Amino acid sequence: MKISKKLQEWVDDCEKLCKPDKVVWCDGSKKQLDELANELIKKGTFQKLNESKRPNSYYAKSDPNDVARVEDRTYICSKNKEDAGPTNNWMDPAEMKKILHGLFDGCMKGRTMYVIPYSMGPLGSNIAHIGVEISDSPYVVLNMAIMTRVGEKVLDVLGDGEFVPCLHSVGFPLTDGKQDVTWPCNETKYIVHFPEEKSIWSYGSGYGGNALLGKKCFALRIASVMAKEQGWLAEHMLIVGITSPQGVKKYVAAAFPSACGKTNLAMLTPTLPGWKVETVGDDIAWMKFGEDGRLYAINPEYGFFGVAPGTSDKTNPNAMASMKENAIFTNVALTDDGDVWWEGMTDEKPAHLTDWHGKDWTPASDKPSSHPNSRFTAPASQCPVIDPDWENPKGVPISAILFGGRRATTVPLVTESLSWQHGVYLGSAVSSEMTAAAAGTVGQLRHDPFAMLPFCGYHMGDYFGHWMEVGKKTDASKLPKIFYVNWFRKDENGKFIWPGYGDNIRVLKWVFERLDGSGKADDKPFGKVPSKGALDVSGLGIPEEKLSGLFDISKEEGLAEVKEMREYYKKFGDKLPKELVTELDELEKRYSS
Ligand code: GTP
Ligand code: SPV
Ligand code: MN
Repeated sequence: MKISKKLQEWVDDCEKLCKPDKVVWCDGSKKQLDELANELIKKGTFQKLNESKRPNSYYAKSDPNDVARVEDRTYICSKNKEDAGPTNNWMDPAEMKKILHGLFDGCMKGRTMYVIPYSMGPLGSNIAHIGVEISDSPYVVLNMAIMTRVGEKVLDVLGDGEFVPCLHSVGFPLTDGKQDVTWPCNETKYIVHFPEEKSIWSYGSGYGGNALLGKKCFALRIASVMAKEQGWLAEHMLIVGITSPQGVKKYVAAAFPSACGKTNLAMLTPTLPGWKVETVGDDIAWMKFGEDGRLYAINPEYGFFGVAPGTSDKTNPNAMASMKENAIFTNVALTDDGDVWWEGMTDEKPAHLTDWHGKDWTPASDKPSSHPNSRFTAPASQCPVIDPDWENPKGVPISAILFGGRRATTVPLVTESLSWQHGVYLGSAVSSEMTAAAAGTVGQLRHDPFAMLPFCGYHMGDYFGHWMEVGKKTDASKLPKIFYVNWFRKDENGKFIWPGYGDNIRVLKWVFERLDGSGKADDKPFGKVPSKGALDVSGLGIPEEKLSGLFDISKEEGLAEVKEMREYYKKFGDKLPKELVTELDELEKRYSS
């Protein structure tokens, strides 16, 4: 393997600090990955699933206290506190380094230190970037090998070039005869980003976005800083290709908060005949301007780390097919014949399961068999509707951007923005009910601007400003049109009004028709909504009065939003772009006239 001096020096420094028994470089070979999986089986971390049911797939259950991202333990350590902004935890970088050096000193004793070179994005793409994760968790290595492009081929492309150093430890050294456990982790957790240095240190957790550092830590928090500096966008967005019955294809990107429907929209099975949907990515989009002045997006990832509960052959058959083999399942339930199950996978619940705590479970049990944030890790290439251009190094041209959240009330099914500037307002106004993807209070409504609240690596006010700047970089006609959607509005009985999933194609169809000029829209104070008859609801059987309920914001609700947003914006002080205040003033005027 070709290892640059800079990389070798960093690895040596980490070895000196963490004091592992040995260092192993991940070459990305199947042989090495199989050996690691076998080691995890021996340790009891992995259970191999029934080979005839789910070939080459593994099951893991985590420590019950290590099941989701820990936002209160996540830090942006910029030199100036002001640069991290009001929405991030901050500590002085020198002070934080002192704490981290203390924690990492000897943290890998008795363990192997793995070095994982990885590429976010197709190897060699000018939109892609390289990271190197050092980790003492073989579980992390195996997940990284699905989620990113890893190994020797990455080092070949890297040469002497720049990489983002990512140091990860579960924080469970095997000293003084201490016995290992199946899911080592530490009560003390730190997920730390140094935006000036472009480095990441993660301690104490082995789960998801806390530990797979290419994902939220690099591809969003650090990359958002790089994007701001270099004039591009790193976003919590799915990317999907939509082809009309006439054979016209357009790409759409969509930002929804964690566990709010990105994976499902990215690979939906259309219920309208003749429409085709193809997946480019399900969680993260990096977008840069092409020579033609349009925004082009790549999916920096190589796999899906998807929410398991609710995923079924009915709601998302393409996700189900993607995880048919070569997959890892974490915190779901095990069936008696060595396969996996979770709430919502089948209408009928299995008579007996082993739940995510390893305990017997029957339908009579009062707790779910799987953790609500249980996940599958599966190669994107196995998605039956993966887009032919998903690995195109140039990316795909984006025609529309959707924002959305999980809102039981107030927010309409779909709204088209009046301009890029108004679209940025809509992005800044995203609020959503919290989900199990992060430790915290599930169901509580919170502001999650651009679905980036936990993922923006700098001052959120500057981030809004960056979006305004991006809108000035090209002709308005070349910018994606911005929409706001909400699949989660409920009726007075607490039931979802909109069927969602495959029927979301009906909204995508209207978006598509607005892009090509054929879709009809009505002006409302808050934006444009489908004219009567413009949204294809054929065969849905939703009564007219319920449907109109999907598009209403009353004057009172609208003015209350204006008031609430004025209050919210105060947080950003003088970093708030003036244009957003203008948008609020205009919105208020439209409601009042
Ligand atoms: P992250 O991976 O956490 O970023 O989440 P995500 O945005 O990809 O969310 P995902 O698509 O996995 O959906 C999360 C949950 O929302 C799952 O339980 C889905 O079944 C449910 N869901 C997704 N789309 C819809 C929809 O259109 N309607 C309803 N009612 N539920 C949906
Ligand atoms: C999210 O929480 O938005 C995820 C899962 O996509 S994780 O990778 O754990 O952050
Ligand atoms: Mn996500």
